[in-house]
Amino acid sequence: MAATGKTHENWSSRSAFILAAVGSAVGLGNMWRFPAEAGENGGGAFVLFYIFCVLLIGLPVLLSEVLIGRHGQANAPESVRRVARDSNAHEGWSILASLGVLGAFLILSFYCVVGGWVVYYIGVFVGDLFQTGLAGGAFEGRAASDVEGLLPGLFGNGGLMVGLNLGFLAVTMFFVARGISSGIEWVAVYLMPIFFALFLGITVYGAFTGNFGEAVAYLFTFDFSKLTGEVMLAAVGQAFFSLSLGVAGMITYGSYANRDTNLGETSGIIAGADTAVAMLAGLAIFPIVFAAGLSASAGPGLMFQSLPIAFQAMPFGSLIGLAFFIMVFFAALTSSVGLLEAPTAYVFEKFNITRPIATLIVGLGAAVLGVFASLSFNEMAEFYPLNFIPLFAETNFFDTLDGVTAKLFMPIGAILTCIFVGWIADAKLIDDENGLDGVLHQTWRALVRFVCPIALTVILLAGLFA
Ligand code: PFF
Repeated sequence: MAATGKTHENWSSRSAFILAAVGSAVGLGNMWRFPAEAGENGGGAFVLFYIFCVLLIGLPVLLSEVLIGRHGQANAPESVRRVARDSNAHEGWSILASLGVLGAFLILSFYCVVGGWVVYYIGVFVGDLFQTGLAGGAFEGRAASDVEGLLPGLFGNGGLMVGLNLGFLAVTMFFVARGISSGIEWVAVYLMPIFFALFLGITVYGAFTGNFGEAVAYLFTFDFSKLTGEVMLAAVGQAFFSLSLGVAGMITYGSYANRDTNLGETSGIIAGADTAVAMLAGLAIFPIVFAAGLSASAGPGLMFQSLPIAFQAMPFGSLIGLAFFIMVFFAALTSSVGLLEAPTAYVFEKFNITRPIATLIVGLGAAVLGVFASLSFNEMAEFYPLNFIPLFAETNFFDTLDGVTAKLFMPIGAILTCIFVGWIADAKLIDDENGLDGVLHQTWRALVRFVCPIALTVILLAGLFA
C-alpha cells in the first residue's frame, strides 16, 4: 500500500514491463542525441567507450534502480524509504529519489520542447508529400539552404515553438493521467512495436540506398587516439541519459513490477535493446547523411537539418522523411510519459488527490518551464538563469535545464543509488530482489560498490571542473 493507502498498480505482464521500460529508455536520446554525440566526438572511439559505460556502469545502476522500486511498490522516494526501513537504515536516503523526481521533472520540461520540433517536422513532411508526391525526393525544387533553414525558421517563431511544446506535453499528460494499464502500458504496447517496424524498415532503406560501408567504418573503427577525457565524459553522460538513469524514472517503473519478474535478466534486456537501437540509429542515419556528402559532425542539427537535406536526393524521400519523424515521435512519447510518471506518481501518492489532478499539477509546472525553454531560442535567447554560477554562465534556459540535469542530477542520483544499494541496504534483501546468482551476482555487487561510485564521482567532478 502506498503512503495514502491508495493501491499501487502493477504491469499486466513481464513483457508489458519490458516494453514500457524499453519505451522509456529508447527516445530522443537514441535517435537524436546519440548520433549527434557520436558524430561530434569522432565516431568509433566514442561508440566503443559508450558500450563499455553501458555494461560497466549503466547496467548495474539500472538493476539497482528497478530493484529499489520493485521492493518498495510505491513512488520513488517512498520506495527508497521502504528499502531503508526494511534494512534498518536511515529513511533520509529517500532524498536520492526526491532529487531524482525533481530531475525527471526538469528533463521533461525541455524534452517536450524537442518533442515539439519532431511534431513540426511531421507537419513539414506531410505538406511536402502533398506537394511533391510519393515517388521523388523530398522538397523538390528547393535549395538545400532552404531545407536547412527550416529549423532556424521554427526557432525564430516563439509562438509556434511554445504551441508545439505544449501540444506535445498535453499528449504526454493525457496518457499519464489514464494510469498504468490504460495509459502508460497502452502507449508502450501499441507504439513500441510500430516504432520497431518503422525503425527496421528505415535502417534497411538506409543500408540499401545510402552509403552503408562508410557509416559502418565511421562508427566501428576504434581509433584510440581519439579517446580524450571529453569524449569519455560525453559517452558516459549519453549512456545515462539513454538508459533513463539517475532521475527516479526506472525506480518508478520498477515499482510496478511483479514479484516473479527476474530483474537481473529484465535489466539486461532493457539495456541491450536500448543500446541496439542507438547503434542501429547510427546505422540508419549516417549512411543517408554520407550518401548526400554531408558531415557527420553536425551535432544537434544532424537529425533536423542534415537528414532532411539528404532525403531530398533519395527515392521516396518525402515518405521516408515522414515515416522517420513519426517513428521518432513514438520513441519520444514513450519516454516523455516515463519522465512525467516519476513526479506524478509521487504527487499522486503523497497528497490525497486523484491521478488526473496530480498529472495536471506536474504538467502545468512543466508547461511553465517549457515556455521559458521554448523562448530560449528566440525572445529570451539572452536570458541566462544561472549566470552567477561559472559552470552555467551565458547559458540560456534550455541549455541550463539540460546541463543541470546531465551534469548534476544524473550523476549525483546514480552515486547515491550505488552507495545505498551497495553499502547501506540489507545484503539479503538485495540478494532476494536482484535475480542474479554466482559470478554474475558477485560481479554486479563489486561494480555497484566500487566501480560505479568511483567512476561516477570522477565523472561528476570532471563535469563540474573540466
Ligand atoms: N532515455 C530517454 C531517451 O533516451 O530519450 C530520456 C529519458 C526518459 C531520461 C526517462 C530519463 C527518464 F526518466
